Amino acid sequence: MSDSLLTEVTVSINGATVSVAPGTTILEAAAIAGVEIPTLCWASNLTPANACRLCVVEMEESRTLVPACSRACEQGAVIHTESERIAVNRKMVLEFLDTTNDLTQSPELQELITRYEADSSRYTEPSKMQDDIKIEDDLFVRAYDRCVLCYKCVDACGDDAQFTFAISMAGRGFDTRVSTEFETPLPESACVYCGNCVGVCPTNALQFKKEFDLREAGQWQPEHQTTTETICSYCGVGCTLELHTQDNEIYKVTSPADHSVTAGHLCIKGRFGWQYVQPPTRRLSTPNISS
Ligand code: SF4
Ligand code: SF4
Ligand code: FES
Repeated sequence: MSDSLLTEVTVSINGATVSVAPGTTILEAAAIAGVEIPTLCWASNLTPANACRLCVVEMEESRTLVPACSRACEQGAVIHTESERIAVNRKMVLEFLDTTNDLTQSPELQELITRYEADSSRYTEPSKMQDDIKIEDDLFVRAYDRCVLCYKCVDACGDDAQFTFAISMAGRGFDTRVSTEFETPLPESACVYCGNCVGVCPTNALQFKKEFDLREAGQWQPEHQTTTETICSYCGVGCTLELHTQDNEIYKVTSPADHSVTAGHLCIKGRFGWQYVQPPTRRLSTPNISS
């Protein structure tokens, strides 16, 4: 029977049998089976871009490795998510990225580099991407020497969330980079400062200005940081906010990717409009009563 006529598709993942709805990706089926597959360009709130190939797995009778994040399960498929071939592939992807980018601010990638024993020093001429940090406003900075060209920001700015299309991939080959139209400074571009690109960036190439300032000043202290959920007070939509604080001061605001209202995306007010709750413009704690 054709897969399109089935109401359920059954696959084997690392020996475990999993039945899922047609169209379910291998990544989603693996999650149901309790199997973790590393990803980089995939996010639960974005359409798979298929750009990084970190998620590849072996599917018996398929000549090539297949990307788990975007490949739908096929009836009867026998899938292996860890093997020597897969490990070599992931190791090389990580080494190529580490050779050209500064990945030090991505704990997830650092963990994978260790797990797959990726060693970019074995390449004789590593050439890190050079790009001046773009600081054009007080909201967020762009440090494209950390950019792995995963397309997440472009898709979040485009038809996966914001529909603003302020940024896109420009150039070709080694010159490929994320850019506004004609490299226009962000404040003069179509950008509406929703920060949804910042919210999905996996390497901190895009980061809140407050976090950037703390890191630059040598005051970045993860052991002093907490995350608190609250509801945005600006309008009636009621977006859930995650306030990331260090020593009781907000340095970043996100929203859970699995939240039914936001899907992880916010507007400029919820994302960046938090200065009024803390010094030096802390809101009134006692009423102004004139005598
Ligand atoms: S802040 Fe929003 S509008 Fe501006 S580039 Fe990022 S996603 Fe696009
Ligand atoms: S800036 Fe971040 S989200 Fe955008 S392509 Fe680069 S790494 Fe991906
Ligand atoms: S996570 Fe699947 S191709 Fe990037």
